[in-house]
Amino acid sequence: MIVLGFESSCDETGVALVCTERGLLAHTLHSQVAMHREYGGVVPELASRDHIRRIYPLTQQVLQQANLEQGDIDVVAYTAGPGLAGALLAGASFACSLAWSLGVPSMAIHHLEGHLLSPLMATPAPEFPFVALLVSGGHTQLMRVDGVAQYELLGETLDDAAGEAFDKTATLLGLGYPGGPALSRMAQQGDSHAYTLPRPMLRNPDLDFSFSGLKTAVLTKVRHLTAQGQTLSERQRADLAASTEAAIVDVLATKAIRALDQTGLTQLVVAGGVGANQRLRAHLQQAVHERSGKVFFPPIELCTDNGAMIAFAAAQRIVAGIPANQDSESSFTVRPRWELSDICV
Ligand code: KG4
Ligand code: ZN
Repeated sequence: MIVLGFESSCDETGVALVCTERGLLAHTLHSQVAMHREYGGVVPELASRDHIRRIYPLTQQVLQQANLEQGDIDVVAYTAGPGLAGALLAGASFACSLAWSLGVPSMAIHHLEGHLLSPLMATPAPEFPFVALLVSGGHTQLMRVDGVAQYELLGETLDDAAGEAFDKTATLLGLGYPGGPALSRMAQQGDSHAYTLPRPMLRNPDLDFSFSGLKTAVLTKVRHLTAQGQTLSERQRADLAASTEAAIVDVLATKAIRALDQTGLTQLVVAGGVGANQRLRAHLQQAVHERSGKVFFPPIELCTDNGAMIAFAAAQRIVAGIPANQDSESSFTVRPRWELSDICV
């Protein structure tokens, strides 16, 4: 079966074609980063309009890449939430209109399920069961994944997400949007031991996270360093970036390893935008390797938001015989807030 998938929950329009037998056939992506940069963050209304502008040309492009025609599509999948309401609606209305016009079913996919299953597209791929560390701009969760639609929440952030911690610190350091990649680039020039920053919740035996205190600690350091009206030097900014990145990575890695210990599982899967962070990757590789486990990352371009993970999640559900929130024939809905537990079987 051929699944066409759309992602439009935030600032990336992603379109992909996945075959249930042959896997990923083609995917295209348009990032709105350049458009939002001058505003210092995502402007929801601009995001929605841009999705509308890009989605049809991207669909044509992906069909061309895979050498397929609209008539070859068996199912149309789209991100129904969580995300920005207008942005979700742009993707959902296009996806459902296309599905209705082709006379094929549409499938509403949970954005986080897309991230969770995306490492299965990599070679080698993990096998169920595994622990997933889901680290994006809006979420930081540790999940136990026993199969498609079998997700158990082990722990999550009580306030800011890891990506948010990267983004907010980047803003403090004047690095602009998107903050995560910019901060980690700057961190490469800095000394991660230069400043002592808190590792929130590290000593708590549970698997929850908290990152808002870290942001406050960096703010306090910045205020202290600039108290006499000085501006931060390049060295200080790089050292602060490196120290912040080290603190975030330390907490994420320690809790992820603890999740393996507590569940007795050996495979760790990392998904979501922060999974592109090189320090996190290196740290986890080493820590998991030391305990004879295995860690899996999706290819970097599939870590951040993309259409492939949505088409792939729909394909996985079809193969597993689990219907995904199939829409009725004449209506659809999006869910800006949507718990992952709602889609479990
Ligand atoms: O999964 P994603 O693309 O979108 C959401 O669903 O939120 O994640 C975006 C987040 C942003 O906070 C971004 O700053 C962060 O991932 N990010 C990174 C890196 N690349 C993206 N954070 C740290 N290091 C990176 N290399
Ligand atoms: Zn995402």
